Amino acid sequence: MILNKAEFLVVNNPLRDFIQEKYEIPILRKMIPADVQFETALEIGCGTGQGSGLIKKYFAPVKIEAIDLDDRMIGLAQKRNHDHAINYSQMDAAKLEFPDDHFDIIFDFAIIHHIPNWQDCIHELARTAKDGAFLLLEELSIESFSGIPGGLWKKILDHPYEKMFDFQELEDFLEATGFQILQTKYSNPLGLLKHISLAAKLKKTGV
Ligand SMILES: C[S@@+](CC[C@H](N)C(=O)[O-])C[C@H]1O[C@@H](n2cnc3c(N)ncnc32)[C@H](O)[C@@H]1O
Repeated sequence: MILNKAEFLVVNNPLRDFIQEKYEIPILRKMIPADVQFETALEIGCGTGQGSGLIKKYFAPVKIEAIDLDDRMIGLAQKRNHDHAINYSQMDAAKLEFPDDHFDIIFDFAIIHHIPNWQDCIHELARTAKDGAFLLLEELSIESFSGIPGGLWKKILDHPYEKMFDFQELEDFLEATGFQILQTKYSNPLGLLKHISLAAKLKKTGV
């Protein structure tokens, strides 16, 4: 689902950029070894391009494919980053146009909870990742949109709530798809928004 006006403003502002660089990325960076080098990275739901710039800065892959369903986001991301190592494309994360066994590392900054058929997306991540690839994600779940602040977010933001996973369901589905979970960290800053940071490593069967 593309973002409604309220969420477009939440995502497309300097505070979001600050939180992503100073809070989210350091947690994820520490979850996987510092000495692994990456050739190819994928970022799903790249939004306005802040994440892909940070992936380049803190994970240094040779090439980054960054995709988003929303053309507006791709236009903004291309304006923000003029780096030949980053390629932006309009694409559905549940129907990736990349070959099997292609990526060394995949990033998801708060997008899978937007996808009604989120299971298809996780299958696509497993298909396009190499055996041994890392997955780093920052996600919300149906628990993020319950309780008092969560209920308020639910009123303001547009998501496929009926189809949305809870955190355990997300972890279980990742494991069932071959992503061995290395670390998780649950947070709820100021009691405002429950979310998970997670690192996993893909083990393909029959490889
Ligand atoms: C909450 S925003 C997060 C943007 C950015 N990753 C960030 O952390 O600021 C979710 C993004 O996912 C994109 N999106 C939603 N459904 C998608 C899908 N099926 N495939 C690719 N991108 C999708 C939206 O257009 C939006 O840019």
